[in-house]
Amino acid sequence: MDDLKSESLRKPFVPFAPAPRVKPLGKIGQIFVLARNPIETWTQAHYELPLLAGPSLVGEMIVVNQPEAIRHVLVENAANYQKDPLQQRILEAGTSEGSGLGLLSAEGDLWKRTRRTLAPSFTPRRVGAFAPVMLERAEARVDRWVKRRSGAILEIDREMIGVTYDILSATLFSDALAEDAAGFERELAALLNAIGRVHPFDIFDAPKWLPRFGRHRARQSRLWFEGAISRLIGHRLALMREQPEEVPDDLLTALMKASDPETGTGLTQAEVSANLFTFIAAGHETTARALGWTLYLLARTPKWWEKCAEEARNAPEDPAQWLDAMPALRAAFEESMRLFPPVPMMSRIAGAGDVLGDIPVAKGTIVVIAPWLIHRHSLLWDQPAAFMPERFMPGEREKIDRFAYLPFGAGPRVCIGAVFAQMEAMIVLTSILRRVRLTHLGEEPRPVHRITLRPEGRLAMKMEIR
Ligand code: HEM
Repeated sequence: MDDLKSESLRKPFVPFAPAPRVKPLGKIGQIFVLARNPIETWTQAHYELPLLAGPSLVGEMIVVNQPEAIRHVLVENAANYQKDPLQQRILEAGTSEGSGLGLLSAEGDLWKRTRRTLAPSFTPRRVGAFAPVMLERAEARVDRWVKRRSGAILEIDREMIGVTYDILSATLFSDALAEDAAGFERELAALLNAIGRVHPFDIFDAPKWLPRFGRHRARQSRLWFEGAISRLIGHRLALMREQPEEVPDDLLTALMKASDPETGTGLTQAEVSANLFTFIAAGHETTARALGWTLYLLARTPKWWEKCAEEARNAPEDPAQWLDAMPALRAAFEESMRLFPPVPMMSRIAGAGDVLGDIPVAKGTIVVIAPWLIHRHSLLWDQPAAFMPERFMPGEREKIDRFAYLPFGAGPRVCIGAVFAQMEAMIVLTSILRRVRLTHLGEEPRPVHRITLRPEGRLAMKMEIR
C-alpha cells in the first residue's frame, strides 16, 4: 500500500475533464452548451465557492457545494425540496398518459408508499441472494472475451452496457424477455439517447405538443417497453395462478408480491410496470458507466490495476462477501465515481423560503446539487482532479464528509439500488481483473453529461489474457 500511496502522490494520474470557464456564458451560449454537454457550463467559481446564487435560464438558482447546506436540503429540510420540474420533464419524456409514476419521479404520498413497499426488496441480504447469478453473467461475458485471442480490441463501454443488461435481465425478470433481448437493447439505447439531452423547450417549459428532437423516438421506445412489460406481467400472473411452484424468485415477483408494511396494500399493475421500467432506466446505464470509467482509470494506473487484480485473484468464494473483502478494488471504484459520478447532477425546487449558509432562498428557487462539482471542489478535496484511490482506503475513507461524496445521493431519496449497484460492480470487476489485463487505446475519453456521465465516443481497450 505504501508504494501505491507514494506512486499516486508523486505523479497521480489526472484524467481529462473540460476546463472550467473563466467567465459565465451568455443566455444563447448556455442553451447551446446545455444541449451539448451541461458540465461545460460550470465556471471556475463553481469549483471554488461553497454557494452560488443568482438568476439562470430556469429562474432563480442556487448551486450548493457546502456539505452542511447539502445535508440541510437532502435530509433536515428534505420535505421542502421536491424534485424540480425540469428534471421531471426530461425523465418523463415519452411516458404515455395514464402510465404510473416510478419511484424516481414520484412525489408526496405516492413516493412514500412506493418507497416503503419496495425497500424490503433492496436490503443487503436480499441483494446478496442475487450475487451468484450476477457472477454467472459476469463470468459468461469474460468467457466470451477470452475465446478471442490475446490482443483483441474490446469496446469496453458497449461491453459494460451488455453485462449490466445481462445482470438486470436475470435478476429483474429471469430473462423472460429473452426473445426480445435485441429489441430491448435497441429500444433502451434509443430511449436513453433521446431523453438524455436537455432540450431548450424543456428549459423554458414550452407546451408539450411542440416537437423536441428525438422525443418521437423516445415515445416509440416507451410504447415498446410498455408493451413488453405488460406481456411480461401477464405471463407472470398466469404462472402465479397456474404453477406457483415454478414462479422465479426475482425482483419482478418481489414487486408483484410486495405490500406496504404500514397498510398492507400492494402495488397496482400500472405501478409494478412503472417501477420495473424505472429500475431498468435508473439501474442499467448508471452502473455500466461507473464500470467503464473504473476500468479506464485502472487501465491508466498499472500499479492500482495490479493491486486490485491481486485482491480479485484471492477473493473469498462467496461473491455476496466481495463488497467488503477487497478494500483496494472498492476504493478504486469509489474514487472512479468521485471523478466521474454516473449521476453528475441532482436538482430540487424550494417549496417555501429557506436559508442556505447565509443566503436567503426564495420559494421556487432551483437548488442544484451537482456531484460533478462537489467531487471536484477545491475546498473539499486535496488534488481534486487526480485519481487517488488511497483516499477511500480504510483509515482514510472515514475522514470523508458524508455530504462531500454523493454518487448515490443522500437522505430519504438516496438511491434505492446502491447496494445492488455496488455488489454488481465488485462482481463484474473481479471477474474481469482475475482473468484479463486491459490497456486503454486512443485518445483520453471526454466526459459528456447526458443524465448519466458517459465517455464521448468509444472506450476501446486491448485485452491480454492472464
Ligand atoms: C452506480 C450505479 C448507480 C448510481 C450512481 C445511482 C445514483 C442515483 C442517485 C444519485 C439517485 C438520487 C437522485 C436524486 O436524489 O435526485 C438515485 C436514485 C434512484 N436509483 Fe440509483 N443509481 C445507481 C444504480 C441503481 C440501480 C442498480 C437501481 C435499481 C435496480 C437504481 C434505482 C434508483 C431509484 C429507483 C432511485 C429513486 C429513489 C427515490 O427517489 O426514492 N439505481 N440513484
